Amino acid sequence: MSASTGEIKRVTTHVIQAMKNRQEKIAMLTAYDFSMARMLDEAGVDILLVGDSASNVMAGHETTLPITLDQMIYHAQSVVRAARRAMVVVDLPFGSYQSNSEIALSSAIRIMKESGAHAVKLEGGAEVEKSIKRILVAGIPVMGHLGLTPQSIYKFGTYSVRAKEETEALKLEEDALLLQQLGCFALVLEKIPANLAAKVSESLEIPTIGIGAGMNTDGQVLVTHDMLGITKDFKPRFLRRYLELFDEIGNATRQYISDVKSKSFPNEHEQY
Ligand code: KIV
Repeated sequence: MSASTGEIKRVTTHVIQAMKNRQEKIAMLTAYDFSMARMLDEAGVDILLVGDSASNVMAGHETTLPITLDQMIYHAQSVVRAARRAMVVVDLPFGSYQSNSEIALSSAIRIMKESGAHAVKLEGGAEVEKSIKRILVAGIPVMGHLGLTPQSIYKFGTYSVRAKEETEALKLEEDALLLQQLGCFALVLEKIPANLAAKVSESLEIPTIGIGAGMNTDGQVLVTHDMLGITKDFKPRFLRRYLELFDEIGNATRQYISDVKSKSFPNEHEQY
C-alpha cells in the first residue's frame, strides 16, 4: 500500500517475477467466491487462483472434469469483485482448451473479458503448446501446470506422486523449459518429488509455485478449503491445516440449533 494515497498496488506478472528475483516466496491460495476472496486478499495473499478444484470443493464432484467454462467464469467474477491487491488467475476447465488452439483462445478470451481476471492457467506441456502460444499472442498471461494434473486423472488412474521415474521426470523438465520458452509467466508444480521441483525451480527463470512439491519452489499454493480444514477427510502429507473449520462450524451450528429450540435465540436485545 502506498503511504501517501492509501492506494493498493496490484500484484502483476512483473511483481511475481521480481519476487522470484529477490527470493521472496510467493503465496497463492484458491478462491471461488466473493466473501472468501475478500478475506484472503485483505490478509495479503499474492495470487488468488480460481481453481477448477471448485468442481470438488464447491460443487461436490469427485473430479475436476465436470466444471464448465460458464461456471468457472461465474466463480471468477465473484473473486475479481473482491480482489483489490491480489492477482487473479483462473483455470481453463477440462474441455475448454485441449481440442484445438482456436477453442483454447476463445475460452481464454471469454474468461478475461467476462470476469476481469488477470491471467489463465492450464494443465500440460508439449501437448498443449499450440494453445498456449495462441493465448499468449493475444496478450493473455498464462500460468502452466505440470506434475499431477488432475484433469488427466483417468489417464493416471491415481492422485499419487508423479515423475518419480526418470522418463517422466525428464519429460517434466523438458516441458517446464518449453513453457518458459513459450512465455508462461509462472508454473505450478503439483505433487512431484521435492528434489525434482528444486532442480526445475533452480533451472528456470520464471517462478514455480508448488503444491506437494517441497520447500524449494518459488512459491506455495494450497486449496483454501483444505488449508482451513473445511474439507474434513482430505489429509495428504503435504497439507498443513491452519484451522479445523469443519468442526468449528459444526459446533457453532449445533449451538445455534440448540438456542433456537430452547427459545434462547433471539432474546429481547435481538429484536425490534
Ligand atoms: O484447481 C486447483 O485448485 C489447482 C491447484 C491445486 C494448483 O490447480
